[in-house]
Amino acid sequence: MTPTLRLVVGGAGLFAGLVALTAASAADLPPAVAKKAAAADMAALQEKLDAIAADPAKNKGAVRTARALALTLAAYGEDGKAAAGPVLAALKGKTPDAKKALEALKAGKGGAGGLDGYDLEDVMSPFRVAKSGGLNIEKDLQAARKGGKMDPAEAEVLGARCVALAEYTVKLPNDKAKTSPAMTKSWERLSKDMAAAGKAVAEEAGKGDKGDAKKLSAGLKKLDASCTNCHNQFRDE
Ligand code: HEC
Repeated sequence: MTPTLRLVVGGAGLFAGLVALTAASAADLPPAVAKKAAAADMAALQEKLDAIAADPAKNKGAVRTARALALTLAAYGEDGKAAAGPVLAALKGKTPDAKKALEALKAGKGGAGGLDGYDLEDVMSPFRVAKSGGLNIEKDLQAARKGGKMDPAEAEVLGARCVALAEYTVKLPNDKAKTSPAMTKSWERLSKDMAAAGKAVAEEAGKGDKGDAKKLSAGLKKLDASCTNCHNQFRDE
């Protein structure tokens, strides 16, 4: 089963969402950036799976992030794609099998198993604070907005992750975003804003010492705003 099934179930709005995502995708990231992000996500996934396997009850929040990391790895390209399906399959449902997922990750060439069985909460999970199982992205972005800077090596991976996660966000409009075609369009536009802002950050940060610190700082602010804009319209709390 592939994400296509979700599209069929979700109807025409979702399909339009997928087709519309041509602005910035993980496949457009500079290869060196994608490679770095894939290595970072592989390490983060391994870390989350180890923690879940060691103490499943204490690391429930990490399960969603682990699922999201399988998705980002698949988005960067062939290297990550190999293990992503089997990892997602092992992490499915209420009693995810972290040990099996670890084996799939290490084998790295299952190939079998499509990307399915994830939802918006999974995709948003890496944004949460580390102690809730996330990757601290929201907090790091907020700190960068206030302090005006972030280590380029960190910003590079953070930006790439946002591009990859946007690829899935656009396909998963929440209930409110499905109330009208205009709302669905708005959801898609906001997801694409996140992808574009993430790409700008990843590219500028990827220049390392040769990068423009001011440009990077402005890019991080824009990325932070892309999150808030969507939350203001679509996240009820
Ligand atoms: C296109 C809309 C959209 C964009 C863009 C978006 N979000 Fe979200 N986000 C949501 C919605 C809707 C929820 C509530 C989802 C839920 O709880 O199922 C959410 C939930 C979250 C959560 C809570 C997750 C949890 O499970 O507790 C965090 C943290 C978060 N978003 C951070 C971010 C950050 C950081 C960005 C930008 C880098 C971002 N979001 C971009 C729509 C968006």
